[in-house]
Amino acid sequence: MNNLTADELREMYQSFFESKGHKRIPGASVIPENDPTVLFTTAGMHPLVPYLMGQMPHPAGTRLTDVQKCVRTGDIDEVGDAAHLTFFEMLGNWSLNDYFKKEAISWSFEFLTTKLGFKPEQLNVTVFRGEGKEGEEGYIPADEEAVEIWKSVGIPEERIFRLPREDNWWGPAGTTGPCGPDTEMFIDTGKEKCGPDCRPGCHCGKYIEIWNDVFMQYNKNEEGKFVPLGRHNVDTGMGVERTICMMSGAATVYDTEIFAPIMAKIDELANVPEGMDPAEVLKARRVIADHMRTATFILCDPKGGVKPGNVGANYVLRRLIRRAVRFARMIGIAPGFTLTLAETICQKYKHVYPELEMNLATCRTDLEAEEARFNRTLDKGEARYNKVVSALKEHGQSRISGKLAFELYDTFGFPFEMTCEMAAKDGLEVDKAGFEEANRKHQELSRTTSAGSFKAGLQDNSAVVTRMHTATHLLHAALHKVLGPTANQKGSNITAERLRFDFTWPEPMTAEQKAEVEKLVNGWIEQGIEVTKKTTTVEEAKKEGAMALFGSKYGDQVSLYSIGDVSKEICCGPHVANTKELGSFKIQKEQSSSAGVRRIKAVIGNM
Ligand code: ALA
Repeated sequence: MNNLTADELREMYQSFFESKGHKRIPGASVIPENDPTVLFTTAGMHPLVPYLMGQMPHPAGTRLTDVQKCVRTGDIDEVGDAAHLTFFEMLGNWSLNDYFKKEAISWSFEFLTTKLGFKPEQLNVTVFRGEGKEGEEGYIPADEEAVEIWKSVGIPEERIFRLPREDNWWGPAGTTGPCGPDTEMFIDTGKEKCGPDCRPGCHCGKYIEIWNDVFMQYNKNEEGKFVPLGRHNVDTGMGVERTICMMSGAATVYDTEIFAPIMAKIDELANVPEGMDPAEVLKARRVIADHMRTATFILCDPKGGVKPGNVGANYVLRRLIRRAVRFARMIGIAPGFTLTLAETICQKYKHVYPELEMNLATCRTDLEAEEARFNRTLDKGEARYNKVVSALKEHGQSRISGKLAFELYDTFGFPFEMTCEMAAKDGLEVDKAGFEEANRKHQELSRTTSAGSFKAGLQDNSAVVTRMHTATHLLHAALHKVLGPTANQKGSNITAERLRFDFTWPEPMTAEQKAEVEKLVNGWIEQGIEVTKKTTTVEEAKKEGAMALFGSKYGDQVSLYSIGDVSKEICCGPHVANTKELGSFKIQKEQSSSAGVRRIKAVIGNM
């Protein structure tokens, strides 16, 4: 096995696929554009959905490779163990109705064995075993083709595992969209099997999944049926952190060169209380490292606009920062550390993701304010705790109720272990069963209310979202006309109900300015201006005066959307063909988003 750095792996992977006719494309933002069904980009295929569906050709061709920043926070509470991360980089190669299983599998095998240096004997693979009966509805055949290809490259039958849909089917990312059987590659670490049923997919640590080749030949439609897509796409994903971990022989991802400077900085800042359980210290260090890395990437995303808050992506960001603060307190890290760690993370990644360095200066206030605010909440929690403890002592009682422990946890952010430690110091015990009961009830409630919003999903290409998207370009152009060229896009978010647009501007817009913007946009809608698209280079587009999202990286070839002489923007689309389709445009709200950034919420329709 070769011992590579993440930098070397990214390069080796992409140049390997370039040698197989692929074009390198830049990874997308971690905050999905025009996709109300997801909070974050969760896989490399996400930004490519329209191309996988065949809705439009990709400007870079039919064979693509990239590195995608991904955020998956579904298992946030599991972070701290050896394996869970809320942020990771995914290496991918795609066939957009070009090559299929034979090439995908052979190249995966070639890359793993000749480039990464894994021995063929270490490789175990899983394939889809099929479901239903031939001739009956819902029948999907087993992927015997993949089995034969694996055998042809030298993987024997006993290391090929045929598994059901739970294991070997990927997607759709949301409720509908492209999906298909996959074949997953596992490295056998050489450890003993944990039992007779131990096989790839078992979590005991013997088999580590390293790569997934998905054969996206189906579409899951709105009725929940899998219908052939009529296209044979390949979507693959290899996790950078996990691969580096496997190759370096490190015990966990946190012990790799990727995390080394972050862990070192945490150790430098920590002042671990005497007698603290080393397992708890380790967990705290990992949580802080993981959460601050994810938070830094979200805050500094080129698309911008995600601040700590109480809903959606903003809430996830808040949770990440607050959990980091809480665990930092446990190991004696003094306030003000979040920015220090964000800077360390920025240093580690800035050559790959220049947006970190570009945007950290503007995000530091949000980060510092959130940390300070939460520290005040924790201080209040301590006051509440002390009050209750004095009352208990006065009454000669020695047990903190589960209800109070839960209040401290839920309202003041005290981890249960922290309450127990404080109680132990005061010679008290805590009703653990009562706490768990209160926690369980609360989780049941929040699971029901938030189900859905955290689900990964697809680009919503519904007609209304497409119309909103074009309206966003008109709004941007109108703001430039009314306020001047410094009123630049900072972010945008579209749902089927409204569009939201953040832009740099130091003060509230006047009623006249808002009316003027509405008038311009409605005028352009009435004129029925044609929307055209062409493929060009970033340089050419900029020469023509196109607007682009500052700080974004673009590929060699980009799509340039023009709305007559009104607007030119580099963008992935989709857009309407003619501005008439928007009906009309109305600003609902204009408010502050953050220092120097204003936010407009607007609606369109045949009002
Ligand atoms: N989309 C596939 C995954 O995320 C490659 O595993």
